[in-house]
Amino acid sequence: MLSDGRAEIVVTKPLAGRPRLFDLLKQETLQAHERIEAQPRLAALVSPGLDRDEYLRTLDCLHAFFSAIEPVIEASLRNHREHFEHYRWRRRSLPLREDMIALGGLPAICARSALPSMQTLGQLGALYVLEGATLGGRVIADNLRVQLGLSEKFGARYFHLYLHGGWAALRKDAAIIQACCDPREAATAANAMFTSLQSFLDDRDREGFRG
Ligand code: HEM
Repeated sequence: MLSDGRAEIVVTKPLAGRPRLFDLLKQETLQAHERIEAQPRLAALVSPGLDRDEYLRTLDCLHAFFSAIEPVIEASLRNHREHFEHYRWRRRSLPLREDMIALGGLPAICARSALPSMQTLGQLGALYVLEGATLGGRVIADNLRVQLGLSEKFGARYFHLYLHGGWAALRKDAAIIQACCDPREAATAANAMFTSLQSFLDDRDREGFRG
């Protein structure tokens, strides 16, 4: 327990070759990851019987989320650019839009769910969540290929982002980030990022895709 009464976050089992900040964030977001993996739209992406129209709707949800959060991320990265030697944000809304168009869809204009704050360097630690998502993308990309015949060139550009090295670049910068930020703030922001994406997915289903 810290002197101000808050619980201290301790990394109990460091994993070899990874920044301590990533270990901590993994540990602190395990439950959030489990919850989002079970979110029906995302769970369907790794299930047999994946339907192309449902996939298109999921892309629309993800497009709504990234269109809303990207300007916030880009502005904050500009403010903290001295801490990011290797890492560059690669826009997700562009491949998502292209994937939708390839499949005969168009992104809808939609209501916004709450976005996490990304002002401080600690809060930018939540980029761990969005780059980590590209690792899961590898599994999803395989299923999209097998079930729907999609590829990086057609309909599944977004789920091939793992090929572009964002995770590795963020990992290189993590040592500097962790030396300069409050890890508890990063953990809170990472969980808020998961929650925000989950809300975008859940809310869009409740709205019934009225657009
Ligand atoms: C059906 C959906 C998902 C599946 C099947 C999935 C699966 C996976 C897998 C297999 C890994 C480990 C990859 C590796 O170590 O090479 C992983 C890592 C990760 N995923 Fe997911 N994921 C999903 C959705 C998401 C989403 C939506 C997010 C965040 C928005 C996310 C965030 C992360 C993070 C941060 C890591 C890195 C964990 C670490 O520190 O090692 N995942 N995921």
